[in-house]
Amino acid sequence: MSRGRFVTLEGIDGSGKSTQADLLAAALNDAGTPVVRAREPGGTPLGEAVRGILLGDEAPVSDASEVLLFAAARAQLVGDVIAPALASGSWVVCDRFLDSSLAYQGGGRGIGIDVVAQVNTLAVGENMPDVTVLLRIDPESAAVRRAGADDRIEAEGIALQRRVAAAYDQIAAAEPNRVRGVDADRPEAEVHAEILGIVGGLT
Ligand code: TYD
Repeated sequence: MSRGRFVTLEGIDGSGKSTQADLLAAALNDAGTPVVRAREPGGTPLGEAVRGILLGDEAPVSDASEVLLFAAARAQLVGDVIAPALASGSWVVCDRFLDSSLAYQGGGRGIGIDVVAQVNTLAVGENMPDVTVLLRIDPESAAVRRAGADDRIEAEGIALQRRVAAAYDQIAAAEPNRVRGVDADRPEAEVHAEILGIVGGLT
C-alpha cells in the first residue's frame, strides 16, 4: 500500500480556506481517491477541547502557552488521524497545520518562526505536508469577507493579520517547492481550479 498524500491549506482569516478545503476533498472523493478532511485546531477530542481554550475568552492565554497548546492539539491530530490515514493510503486535506503556528505565533506574535518550528518538531515529526496551498488575499478584503464573526485571535484586528500575511510570504519564499501561493481574491470556482491543478501534480 503506498502512502497517501498530505495537502494543507493556509492563509489569513477570511482567505476562504475552509471552503476550498471542502471543494478539494469533494473533488478527490469524486475521483475515487480516499480522503480524510481535517482541521486545526481540532479534529480530536483533545484538539477540540484545546480549541475551546485557545479561541474562547474564558482564560487569558500567554504567547508561549498559545504556541504549546496549538502544538499539543497538532501532536494529537497527527498521531490519531493524519499519520494513520496516510499510512493506510488515504489522502489528507487539512485546513491549517504547522504553517499557521509559524505565521500566527512565529510572525504575528513575534515569537520567531525558528523557535515555533523547533517546538513543533515534536508534534509533526516526519509528517510534513507534500504540498501547502497558501491562499493569498489582502487583509482588508479578508476582513470584509469575515464581517463580524470573530474569535479571540481574529478579534485582534488588521495589524496582526498583516504580520501573519508577511510571515506566510516569508515561509513561501523559503520553501517554494512545498508552499504554493494562489490568489484567493477571485471567484471560488477559479481558485478551486487552480488548486486542483497544483494537487494534480502529486498523483
Ligand atoms: P480558523 O481556521 O480561522 O478557524 P475557524 O475558521 O473555524 O474560525 O482558526 C482559528 C484561529 O486560530 C485563526 O485565527 C488562526 C489561529 N491559529 C493560530 O494562531 N495558530 C495555529 O497554529 C492554528 C492552527 C490556528
